[in-house]
Amino acid sequence: MNTSVKRTFPLFREQDSAAIVNARIGPDVDPRTRYIAETVVRHLHAAVKEIGPTHEEWLAAIKFLTDTGNMCTDWRQEFILLSDVLGVSMLVDAINHRRPGQATENTILGPFFVEGVGLSPHGTNICKDGKGEPLVVRASVHDTDGNPIEGAVIDVWQTNDDGFYDVQQKQIQPEGNLRGKFVSDADGVFWFKSVKPRDYPIPDDGPVGKLLRKLGRHPNRAAHIHFLIQATGYDTVITHIFAPDCPYLAEDTVFGVKESLIGNFVRQSDPEEAKSLGFEIPFWSVHWNFVLNKTIFHSNDRK
Ligand code: BEZ
Ligand code: FE
Repeated sequence: MNTSVKRTFPLFREQDSAAIVNARIGPDVDPRTRYIAETVVRHLHAAVKEIGPTHEEWLAAIKFLTDTGNMCTDWRQEFILLSDVLGVSMLVDAINHRRPGQATENTILGPFFVEGVGLSPHGTNICKDGKGEPLVVRASVHDTDGNPIEGAVIDVWQTNDDGFYDVQQKQIQPEGNLRGKFVSDADGVFWFKSVKPRDYPIPDDGPVGKLLRKLGRHPNRAAHIHFLIQATGYDTVITHIFAPDCPYLAEDTVFGVKESLIGNFVRQSDPEEAKSLGFEIPFWSVHWNFVLNKTIFHSNDRK
Protein backbone atom coordinates (compact mmCIF):
# COMPACT_ATOMS: atom_id res chain seq x y z
CA MET A 1 0.00 0.00 0.00
CA ASN A 2 1.28 3.47 -0.91
CA THR A 3 1.06 5.39 2.37
CA SER A 4 2.60 8.57 0.99
CA VAL A 5 -0.70 9.68 -0.65
CA LYS A 6 -2.87 11.55 1.80
CA ARG A 7 -6.43 10.27 1.67
CA THR A 8 -8.98 13.01 2.36
CA PHE A 9 -12.07 10.97 1.51
CA PRO A 10 -13.01 7.38 2.40
CA LEU A 11 -12.85 4.80 -0.39
CA PHE A 12 -16.14 3.48 -1.79
CA ARG A 13 -17.92 0.84 0.31
CA GLU A 14 -21.36 -0.64 -0.29
CA GLN A 15 -22.44 -0.19 3.32
CA ASP A 16 -22.14 3.59 3.46
CA SER A 17 -22.10 4.41 -0.24
CA ALA A 18 -24.41 7.45 -0.08
CA ALA A 19 -22.47 9.09 2.77
CA ILE A 20 -19.22 8.52 0.86
CA VAL A 21 -20.61 10.21 -2.28
CA ASN A 22 -22.10 13.10 -0.29
CA ALA A 23 -18.81 13.68 1.53
CA ARG A 24 -17.37 14.85 -1.81
CA ILE A 25 -19.64 17.92 -1.97
CA GLY A 26 -17.44 20.99 -1.63
CA PRO A 27 -17.43 23.23 1.46
CA ASP A 28 -18.67 26.35 -0.35
CA VAL A 29 -21.76 24.84 -1.93
CA ASP A 30 -24.91 26.78 -1.01
CA PRO A 31 -26.94 25.02 1.70
CA ARG A 32 -30.09 24.43 -0.38
CA THR A 33 -28.10 22.82 -3.22
CA ARG A 34 -26.22 20.67 -0.68
CA TYR A 35 -29.48 19.61 0.97
CA ILE A 36 -31.09 18.67 -2.36
CA ALA A 37 -28.04 16.79 -3.66
CA GLU A 38 -27.51 14.87 -0.39
CA THR A 39 -31.18 13.91 -0.20
CA VAL A 40 -31.35 12.72 -3.81
CA VAL A 41 -28.15 10.67 -3.45
CA ARG A 42 -29.36 9.14 -0.17
CA HIS A 43 -32.73 8.09 -1.63
CA LEU A 44 -31.25 6.93 -4.94
CA HIS A 45 -28.72 4.70 -3.19
CA ALA A 46 -31.43 3.34 -0.90
CA ALA A 47 -33.63 2.49 -3.92
CA VAL A 48 -30.74 0.78 -5.73
CA LYS A 49 -29.93 -1.23 -2.58
CA GLU A 50 -33.56 -2.24 -2.15
CA ILE A 51 -34.02 -3.20 -5.83
CA GLY A 52 -30.59 -4.79 -6.37
CA PRO A 53 -30.72 -4.24 -10.17
CA THR A 54 -28.85 -6.45 -12.63
CA HIS A 55 -26.50 -4.62 -15.02
CA GLU A 56 -29.07 -5.18 -17.79
CA GLU A 57 -31.84 -3.58 -15.71
CA TRP A 58 -29.66 -0.60 -14.88
CA LEU A 59 -28.77 -0.11 -18.56
CA ALA A 60 -32.47 -0.37 -19.46
CA ALA A 61 -33.18 2.41 -16.94
CA ILE A 62 -30.44 4.56 -18.48
CA LYS A 63 -31.77 3.85 -21.99
CA PHE A 64 -35.28 4.85 -20.85
CA LEU A 65 -33.98 8.20 -19.56
CA THR A 66 -31.94 8.69 -22.75
CA ASP A 67 -35.02 8.00 -24.90
CA THR A 68 -37.03 10.39 -22.74
CA GLY A 69 -34.48 13.15 -23.34
CA ASN A 70 -34.31 12.40 -27.06
CA MET A 71 -38.09 12.72 -27.33
CA CYS A 72 -37.97 16.32 -26.08
CA THR A 73 -38.34 19.19 -28.53
CA ASP A 74 -39.42 22.82 -28.11
CA TRP A 75 -43.04 21.65 -28.02
CA ARG A 76 -42.77 18.13 -26.54
CA GLN A 77 -41.43 17.85 -22.98
CA GLU A 78 -41.29 14.15 -22.25
CA PHE A 79 -39.70 14.62 -18.80
CA ILE A 80 -42.68 16.72 -17.66
CA LEU A 81 -44.95 13.98 -18.97
CA LEU A 82 -42.92 11.47 -16.95
CA SER A 83 -43.23 13.63 -13.85
CA ASP A 84 -47.00 13.89 -14.54
CA VAL A 85 -47.66 10.14 -14.82
CA LEU A 86 -45.53 9.41 -11.74
CA GLY A 87 -47.65 11.83 -9.70
CA VAL A 88 -44.67 14.10 -9.05
CA SER A 89 -46.13 17.14 -10.83
CA MET A 90 -49.23 16.95 -8.63
CA LEU A 91 -47.10 16.43 -5.51
CA VAL A 92 -44.91 19.47 -6.22
CA ASP A 93 -48.07 21.48 -6.90
CA ALA A 94 -49.68 20.31 -3.64
CA ILE A 95 -46.58 21.23 -1.62
CA ASN A 96 -46.50 24.70 -3.14
CA HIS A 97 -50.22 25.49 -2.97
CA ARG A 98 -51.42 24.68 0.52
CA ARG A 99 -54.39 27.04 0.41
CA PRO A 100 -57.05 27.95 2.96
CA GLY A 101 -60.08 25.64 2.73
CA GLN A 102 -62.39 27.90 0.73
CA ALA A 103 -59.89 28.80 -2.01
CA THR A 104 -60.11 26.97 -5.34
CA GLU A 105 -57.62 24.13 -5.50
CA ASN A 106 -54.91 23.95 -8.11
CA THR A 107 -54.32 21.10 -10.45
CA ILE A 108 -51.87 20.27 -13.20
CA LEU A 109 -51.03 22.92 -15.85
CA GLY A 110 -50.21 20.42 -18.59
CA PRO A 111 -48.16 21.14 -21.70
CA PHE A 112 -50.85 22.75 -23.84
CA PHE A 113 -51.22 26.19 -22.23
CA VAL A 114 -50.44 28.93 -24.76
CA GLU A 115 -49.34 32.39 -23.68
CA GLY A 116 -50.48 35.56 -25.40
CA VAL A 117 -54.01 34.56 -26.40
CA GLY A 118 -56.05 37.71 -27.15
CA LEU A 119 -58.96 38.85 -24.97
CA SER A 120 -62.49 37.84 -26.00
CA PRO A 121 -65.80 39.44 -25.02
CA HIS A 122 -68.05 37.56 -22.60
CA GLY A 123 -70.32 35.11 -24.40
CA THR A 124 -67.77 34.24 -27.10
CA ASN A 125 -68.05 30.73 -28.46
CA ILE A 126 -64.48 29.41 -28.23
CA CYS A 127 -65.38 26.29 -30.24
CA LYS A 128 -64.47 27.12 -33.83
CA ASP A 129 -64.76 23.67 -35.40
CA GLY A 130 -68.44 23.07 -34.60
CA LYS A 131 -67.77 19.60 -33.14
CA GLY A 132 -69.19 18.35 -29.85
CA GLU A 133 -72.15 19.05 -27.58
CA PRO A 134 -72.66 22.79 -26.92
CA LEU A 135 -71.91 24.06 -23.42
CA VAL A 136 -72.33 27.41 -21.71
CA VAL A 137 -69.95 28.17 -18.83
CA ARG A 138 -71.18 30.85 -16.42
CA ALA A 139 -68.48 31.65 -13.90
CA SER A 140 -67.35 34.16 -11.33
CA VAL A 141 -64.22 35.05 -9.37
CA HIS A 142 -64.42 35.94 -5.66
CA ASP A 143 -62.03 36.37 -2.75
CA THR A 144 -62.19 34.13 0.32
CA ASP A 145 -64.54 36.63 2.04
CA GLY A 146 -67.02 36.36 -0.84
CA ASN A 147 -66.23 39.73 -2.44
CA PRO A 148 -66.23 39.76 -6.26
CA ILE A 149 -62.86 40.27 -7.93
CA GLU A 150 -63.11 42.63 -10.88
CA GLY A 151 -60.44 42.55 -13.58
CA ALA A 152 -59.25 38.97 -13.03
CA VAL A 153 -57.78 37.61 -16.26
CA ILE A 154 -58.93 34.10 -17.05
CA ASP A 155 -57.29 31.85 -19.66
CA VAL A 156 -59.40 28.91 -20.77
CA TRP A 157 -58.38 25.92 -22.91
CA GLN A 158 -59.62 22.42 -23.68
CA THR A 159 -59.41 19.75 -26.37
CA ASN A 160 -61.83 19.57 -29.26
CA ASP A 161 -64.33 16.76 -29.48
CA ASP A 162 -61.75 14.53 -31.18
CA GLY A 163 -59.59 14.77 -28.02
CA PHE A 164 -56.79 17.02 -29.33
CA TYR A 165 -55.63 20.54 -28.47
CA ASP A 166 -55.36 23.01 -31.36
CA VAL A 167 -51.55 23.05 -30.99
CA GLN A 168 -51.44 19.27 -31.52
CA GLN A 169 -53.30 19.61 -34.82
CA LYS A 170 -52.01 22.81 -36.34
CA GLN A 171 -52.97 21.87 -39.91
CA ILE A 172 -56.30 20.35 -38.92
CA GLN A 173 -58.02 22.58 -36.33
CA PRO A 174 -58.76 26.29 -36.73
CA GLU A 175 -56.06 28.34 -34.98
CA GLY A 176 -56.99 29.08 -31.37
CA ASN A 177 -59.77 26.50 -31.37
CA LEU A 178 -61.15 25.92 -27.83
CA ARG A 179 -58.99 28.66 -26.31
CA GLY A 180 -60.05 31.98 -24.86
CA LYS A 181 -59.12 34.75 -22.46
CA PHE A 182 -61.70 36.71 -20.48
CA VAL A 183 -61.73 39.49 -17.86
CA SER A 184 -64.15 39.37 -14.94
CA ASP A 185 -66.60 42.30 -14.62
CA ALA A 186 -67.50 44.40 -11.55
CA ASP A 187 -69.52 41.44 -10.17
CA GLY A 188 -66.57 39.11 -10.70
CA VAL A 189 -68.54 37.44 -13.51
CA PHE A 190 -67.38 36.06 -16.88
CA TRP A 191 -69.02 33.63 -19.27
CA PHE A 192 -68.39 31.89 -22.55
CA LYS A 193 -69.71 29.21 -24.86
CA SER A 194 -67.83 26.04 -25.66
CA VAL A 195 -68.42 22.29 -25.93
CA LYS A 196 -68.70 19.65 -23.24
CA PRO A 197 -65.16 18.43 -22.55
CA ARG A 198 -64.29 14.80 -23.21
CA ASP A 199 -61.63 12.41 -21.97
CA TYR A 200 -58.51 12.11 -24.12
CA PRO A 201 -55.14 10.36 -24.05
CA ILE A 202 -51.98 12.27 -23.18
CA PRO A 203 -49.31 11.95 -25.90
CA ASP A 204 -48.35 8.26 -25.59
CA ASP A 205 -46.24 7.68 -28.71
CA GLY A 206 -42.96 8.08 -26.75
CA PRO A 207 -41.12 6.43 -23.84
CA VAL A 208 -43.74 7.56 -21.32
CA GLY A 209 -46.48 5.84 -23.33
CA LYS A 210 -44.30 2.69 -23.44
CA LEU A 211 -43.85 2.88 -19.69
CA LEU A 212 -47.61 3.21 -19.13
CA ARG A 213 -48.27 0.15 -21.29
CA LYS A 214 -45.55 -1.83 -19.49
CA LEU A 215 -47.20 -0.95 -16.17
CA GLY A 216 -50.67 -1.93 -17.41
CA ARG A 217 -51.87 1.69 -17.25
CA HIS A 218 -53.97 3.63 -19.76
CA PRO A 219 -52.99 7.13 -20.95
CA ASN A 220 -56.37 8.83 -20.47
CA ARG A 221 -57.13 12.09 -18.75
CA ALA A 222 -60.55 12.67 -17.20
CA ALA A 223 -62.67 15.16 -19.21
CA HIS A 224 -61.86 18.73 -18.17
CA ILE A 225 -61.62 22.40 -19.07
CA HIS A 226 -58.41 24.21 -18.06
CA PHE A 227 -58.47 27.59 -16.30
CA LEU A 228 -55.61 29.91 -15.35
CA ILE A 229 -56.80 32.85 -13.25
CA GLN A 230 -54.62 35.84 -12.48
CA ALA A 231 -55.63 38.85 -10.41
CA THR A 232 -53.36 41.47 -8.86
CA GLY A 233 -52.83 40.83 -5.13
CA TYR A 234 -54.11 37.23 -5.29
CA ASP A 235 -52.39 33.88 -5.76
CA THR A 236 -52.69 32.67 -9.33
CA VAL A 237 -54.95 29.65 -9.66
CA ILE A 238 -54.17 26.95 -12.24
CA THR A 239 -57.04 24.54 -12.27
CA HIS A 240 -59.67 22.52 -14.16
CA ILE A 241 -63.39 21.90 -14.01
CA PHE A 242 -64.02 18.18 -14.49
CA ALA A 243 -67.14 16.65 -16.06
CA PRO A 244 -68.88 14.46 -13.44
CA ASP A 245 -69.92 11.69 -15.83
CA CYS A 246 -66.45 10.90 -17.14
CA PRO A 247 -65.41 7.22 -16.72
CA TYR A 248 -61.79 8.27 -15.97
CA LEU A 249 -62.50 10.54 -12.98
CA ALA A 250 -61.07 8.02 -10.54
CA GLU A 251 -58.15 7.05 -12.75
CA ASP A 252 -56.91 10.20 -14.44
CA THR A 253 -53.48 9.20 -15.72
CA VAL A 254 -51.78 12.31 -14.26
CA PHE A 255 -53.68 12.24 -10.91
CA GLY A 256 -55.17 15.69 -11.58
CA VAL A 257 -58.69 15.11 -10.26
CA LYS A 258 -59.77 16.67 -6.96
CA GLU A 259 -63.26 16.25 -5.54
CA SER A 260 -63.72 20.02 -5.23
CA LEU A 261 -63.08 20.49 -8.97
CA ILE A 262 -65.87 18.24 -10.26
CA GLY A 263 -68.54 20.45 -11.84
CA ASN A 264 -72.27 20.07 -12.04
CA PHE A 265 -72.76 19.87 -15.81
CA VAL A 266 -76.51 20.05 -16.45
CA ARG A 267 -78.18 18.88 -19.66
CA GLN A 268 -80.59 21.63 -20.78
CA SER A 269 -83.53 21.39 -23.10
CA ASP A 270 -85.25 24.79 -22.88
CA PRO A 271 -85.71 25.90 -26.52
CA GLU A 272 -85.89 29.63 -25.56
CA GLU A 273 -82.61 29.53 -23.71
CA ALA A 274 -81.03 27.52 -26.52
CA LYS A 275 -82.22 30.13 -29.02
CA SER A 276 -80.84 33.01 -26.95
CA LEU A 277 -77.46 31.25 -26.93
CA GLY A 278 -77.56 30.30 -30.59
CA PHE A 279 -77.53 26.59 -29.62
CA GLU A 280 -79.65 23.62 -30.66
CA ILE A 281 -81.24 21.56 -27.87
CA PRO A 282 -80.08 19.73 -25.95
CA PHE A 283 -77.08 21.65 -24.68
CA TRP A 284 -75.08 21.69 -21.44
CA SER A 285 -74.49 24.33 -18.80
CA VAL A 286 -72.16 24.62 -15.84
CA HIS A 287 -71.88 27.30 -13.14
CA TRP A 288 -68.61 27.78 -11.32
CA ASN A 289 -67.21 30.15 -8.70
CA PHE A 290 -63.42 30.49 -8.50
CA VAL A 291 -62.18 31.60 -5.08
CA LEU A 292 -58.77 33.28 -4.84
CA ASN A 293 -56.79 33.90 -1.69
CA LYS A 294 -54.80 37.06 -1.10
CA THR A 295 -51.08 36.69 -1.68
CA ILE A 296 -49.10 36.49 1.56
CA PHE A 297 -45.36 36.89 1.37
CA HIS A 298 -43.64 34.25 3.54
CA SER A 299 -40.04 34.20 4.58
CA ASN A 300 -38.39 31.12 3.06
CA ASP A 301 -39.16 28.27 5.47
CA ARG A 302 -37.35 25.59 3.49
CA LYS A 303 -34.22 23.85 4.70
C1 BEZ B 1 -53.43 18.32 -20.08
O1 BEZ B 1 -54.36 18.29 -19.31
O2 BEZ B 1 -53.51 19.05 -21.06
C2 BEZ B 1 -52.25 17.42 -19.85
C3 BEZ B 1 -51.74 17.29 -18.57
C4 BEZ B 1 -50.63 16.48 -18.36
C5 BEZ B 1 -50.05 15.81 -19.42
C6 BEZ B 1 -50.58 15.95 -20.70
C7 BEZ B 1 -51.70 16.75 -20.91
FE1 FE C 1 -55.93 18.97 -20.64
